Amino acid sequence: MLKIVIAGLDGCLGSAFIGLSDLFSLAQRRISAALPDDSPGADFCTVTAGVGGRPIQDGAGARHEVETSFEEIAVCDAIIIPSFAPGPEGEVPDMAPLAGAAAWLRRHHSRGALVGGCGSGVFLLGEAGLLDGRRCTTSWWHNEDLKKRYPRADLAWGARLIDDRRVVTAAGPMSWIDVGLYALKALCGAEAGRIAADFTLGDTTPAKGGHGGAYGPAAVSGSADAFLAEAERIVRQADADFNAQGLARALSTSERTLHRRLKLACGESPKSFIDRVRVETARTLLETSAKPVKELAASAGFIDEASFRRAFRRYAGMAPSAYRVWARAKAQDKAQIFSVRKESELIPEILTTIFDTCVNGVTLTDPDLEDAPIVYANKPFQEITGYAPNEILGRNCRFLQGEDRDQEGLQRLREAIRNRQPVEVILRNYRKSGELFYNKLNITPLFDEQGALIYFLGVQYDVTKQVTAEREIGDLRERLQAIA
Ligand SMILES: Cc1cc2nc3c(=O)[nH]c(=O)nc-3n(C[C@H](O)[C@H](O)[C@H](O)COP(=O)(O)O)c2cc1C
Repeated sequence: MLKIVIAGLDGCLGSAFIGLSDLFSLAQRRISAALPDDSPGADFCTVTAGVGGRPIQDGAGARHEVETSFEEIAVCDAIIIPSFAPGPEGEVPDMAPLAGAAAWLRRHHSRGALVGGCGSGVFLLGEAGLLDGRRCTTSWWHNEDLKKRYPRADLAWGARLIDDRRVVTAAGPMSWIDVGLYALKALCGAEAGRIAADFTLGDTTPAKGGHGGAYGPAAVSGSADAFLAEAERIVRQADADFNAQGLARALSTSERTLHRRLKLACGESPKSFIDRVRVETARTLLETSAKPVKELAASAGFIDEASFRRAFRRYAGMAPSAYRVWARAKAQDKAQIFSVRKESELIPEILTTIFDTCVNGVTLTDPDLEDAPIVYANKPFQEITGYAPNEILGRNCRFLQGEDRDQEGLQRLREAIRNRQPVEVILRNYRKSGELFYNKLNITPLFDEQGALIYFLGVQYDVTKQVTAEREIGDLRERLQAIA
């Protein structure tokens, strides 16, 4: 039986703590009535747990019993952290006293549990280190605070719900409904999720990750954060011709003051601030929608596609379509597997396992996508280069050359790729640590039955030892000849 834990923590929102229990028990009744008994989604239970099994006091001072203690939970499939009630200044409470709960969360996540944070409950996931390098969201008015406290979190501005490798984060104190329904769908299957949403919300389309709609009341926290949050909200809702002047006017301040306050609060000029917020919006849209890039550029507030592409590369470090491939692969936690449909049809998982046991790197790049990004890289490629899957997928392989772009093999390589021909070259490449290695790169175009090019297959051998040995032999030979 699947087990879902609702975490009871002092200072949480009582409605979220109680509401989650109600949501799950209503959903369970309906799901078990609607699905056959042997259906895996029909069998789940929920339990409330707290520190030492002691009753908790919510943010409004009301007492709630919990069924068990965190320590008693040996295994579970999901843990949900309700939002915290805001402090007197609207701030999220200090998470340091909850270090024990954070460690408990981390432990269960590493054992395979899905963990979900609602609104300011996301901060506890940050405290647990679970936001490091993960795409996440929280209530928009907490964005600045979250970034300050957990700088390694990859915060998506304006997203409603994000699942990045079993860490689910959602915006808004009432997002416990979204998180609860999402957890049901993830654990019990789409059908159970649909039944739960339909029964609890009267909604046949259960809440999905999506953009926008997360704007709440006026900013509530400290003044620098409130200023930034308000500036961000204005930029998100503005048209494409909106500029620094417009932002100053909307914030009832002068351009000079705007410049000074933004520099102080986030170190950015008004123009870069506006571009960054728009790029953040675009990232969320790329992750959550199938909109074509042109349409998406307009929705994110860019005047045209070219300026969008420029800004996107500057802030996200890759082309928009490459980002889409990368984000999808990352969300599936299958970085070493294939990220779009045609790949999974072409090479099933069994072959992935075989490639992972090779000593050489194996990569596939997709020539149909902008800048031909890597859509597959086996484990040895990650080991040779030192880069993690999320730093490889979605990028053109040239990133391994660093600044060393004047290489004789490159011209031959470009020509072969242009003519869709196989080629072998030795290139100077650089590992993530900056160390040089010689990469004997073998490229083969792959065609489908109709003769259309579908991928380039790359096989990478680290030949540093051979190249260095040959160099030494060459040097020795020269010296011997000189003596002779
Ligand atoms: C399948 C494939 C794998 C590649 N692997 C590498 C690689 O491991 N290292 C590298 O420096 N370039 C690699 N490249 C080459 C670059 O992606 C790129 O084609 C090359 O730098 C020339 O193009 P550019 O002038 O646009 O950079 C690979 C190309 C393909 C098609």
